[in-house]
Amino acid sequence: MASLASRARSLRHRVALALSERIRWSRGPYREVPAGELEGLTAMRAARIAALRERHGVAFERRLGAATSLRNYEYLDLLDCAAAAGVPLGRAGGALCDVGCASFGYAAALHAFFRPERLLGVDVEGYRLLRDGRSRIDHARGYLADLPGARFVVADYADMHEPADVITAWFPFVTEEALLAWRLPLSLLAPGRLFGRIRANLAAGGSFVMVNHGRAEALAAFAWCDAVGLIRQGDWSGVGAFGGYRTLPPVVSVWRAG
Ligand SMILES: C[S@@+](CC[C@H](N)C(=O)[O-])C[C@H]1O[C@@H](n2cnc3c(N)ncnc32)[C@H](O)[C@@H]1O
Repeated sequence: MASLASRARSLRHRVALALSERIRWSRGPYREVPAGELEGLTAMRAARIAALRERHGVAFERRLGAATSLRNYEYLDLLDCAAAAGVPLGRAGGALCDVGCASFGYAAALHAFFRPERLLGVDVEGYRLLRDGRSRIDHARGYLADLPGARFVVADYADMHEPADVITAWFPFVTEEALLAWRLPLSLLAPGRLFGRIRANLAAGGSFVMVNHGRAEALAAFAWCDAVGLIRQGDWSGVGAFGGYRTLPPVVSVWRAG
């Protein structure tokens, strides 16, 4: 049972979410000013970026700002390291759906790694107002503008019927603290429904790729995956060349429908 303080925080977040859904603030798609070059890189990062650019045919900084480019290299690096360690991540071919994508600033990395024909990002809080006076959907539309077949949808994934060959979830919520820290109401903490929907939407032979913050969170999420009938194919953990700022090493795991 959540404490009184947690319930009070949750109520504030619920009001803010309901307001954002009502107002639906949007100033239209926002395109970042491309960084062009990434400056001040350590030798290790520069070497890793060169390897990722060559292997995946990307140059994020030509279309995105420096921070978003580095985020894309970080996410691509994690996928690349997990694949190199033998984790069978699969390739989308057809449809890839990312669950809880926030502004989907890392869509380019998913596009480069999985090469899907259709890429869908889903977030329940698409109209959150960001510090620059734009909303999440404005940023997401800008990030997706150059990616063929890409879309962003504001929805509760737990209610969506959206079959996909690859489903990804980067840091899905499995604990109360994480959800409240992200300023969402506790009513959205429903991992059984969320993972059950992922299992139901996963195409036969498709992969669910999940990334969690550290081993403890990963184990909690693994238990939910087991409970809904997903079967783990492998996992890998590490910070990669870009994740030094994280307090816990991400855990990448891959699941198939049983
Ligand atoms: C920890 S954040 C991670 C965001 C993003 N995946 C990333 O790596 O930056 C989790 C995201 O999931 C979204 N979310 C939570 N529950 C959801 C649901 N039921 N359906 C869709 N999105 C959800 C939240 O709004 C939040 O943006």
